[in-house]
Amino acid sequence: MKLDEILPTQLYISKSKYEHNLKILEKSNFKKYQPLPVKKIGEEIFFTDGHTRAFILWQQEITEINVYDDPDRLDWIMYLLNLKWCRDSNIISIGDLNDRIIEEREYQREWLDLCSSYQQKISQDPLADLVVEMEKSSKIKAQICEQILRSLPQWFGIEKAILHYIEDVKTLPFFKISIYSKTIGFCAIKVNYGVNADLYVLGIFKEFHGKGIGKRLIGTINEYCKQLNIPYMSVKTLSEKHPDKNYWKTRKFYEKCGFKPFEEFTDLWGEHSPCLYMIREVK
Ligand SMILES: CC(C)(COP(=O)(O)OP(=O)(O)OC[C@H]1O[C@@H](n2cnc3c(N)ncnc32)[C@H](O)[C@@H]1OP(=O)(O)O)[C@@H](O)C(=O)NCCC(=O)NCCS
Repeated sequence: MKLDEILPTQLYISKSKYEHNLKILEKSNFKKYQPLPVKKIGEEIFFTDGHTRAFILWQQEITEINVYDDPDRLDWIMYLLNLKWCRDSNIISIGDLNDRIIEEREYQREWLDLCSSYQQKISQDPLADLVVEMEKSSKIKAQICEQILRSLPQWFGIEKAILHYIEDVKTLPFFKISIYSKTIGFCAIKVNYGVNADLYVLGIFKEFHGKGIGKRLIGTINEYCKQLNIPYMSVKTLSEKHPDKNYWKTRKFYEKCGFKPFEEFTDLWGEHSPCLYMIREVK
């Protein structure tokens, strides 16, 4: 990958680690090194580790480096916070750490201790800084919808349908979910006859599933409906007649959020995609 296209997630580099890695890399004339781990969430690609080595390669004016997609299940909420810290300090590529090589003791205090104190806070309440708010700009709605649907091929694999959603969300009430200024999910709704808010399309980046974020989203939409005196919410999803495991999870989610199966439409989406219509009262 191009080195300057990978976002750093660290504010400092430890001098002793730098000197140690420099010696090792010098031996192979900066040619031999293990690929560096990166992660892609939406459009953003960031380092999950290996900042010191990346920085040394940057100093050697190397512009392309070997990377691999980090398979570990890391604390992605913490990484979003790290990305925000870096953005706020104008650290958007590895070379921006040029004047941030610091002595071990300072590194411990300024970086490692800072991270562990926030890690503790995040582990106590991972969603403390989660925001669910309405987005008005049709351009931004379309961008968010496209990024998230394209990251969920197990649920949204039909190109024609994705294009429809991207177009349709532009004019619909749209809720976006962000954490540390990064949008990680959304839901567009259709209000029918003023009595029913249909969850038209929704999704959250896979890295953030199962953390209570979807439930928070449904709660916010519930509040929106209450304010507008909309008594019902509904959603159409793939019915259990279809063996898809991912949609089994989606149905479990809706059930947990209080939706009940209401009717099945076997020909609405074509014979291979039986549709389950679920409803719930606004509470
Ligand atoms: C569906 C989706 C929005 C749910 O969001 P989420 O943040 O993962 O869900 P939550 O963590 O808030 O889960 C809420 C509840 O549903 C349950 N649930 C969620 N996923 C589940 C699963 N795979 N199996 C069983 N229960 C599940 C949770 O246990 C939780 O119950 P609890 O309150 O008793 O703990 C999200 O997983 C997603 O984006 N899926 C892919 C896209 C998609 O399915 N879109 C809808 C197409 S119709």
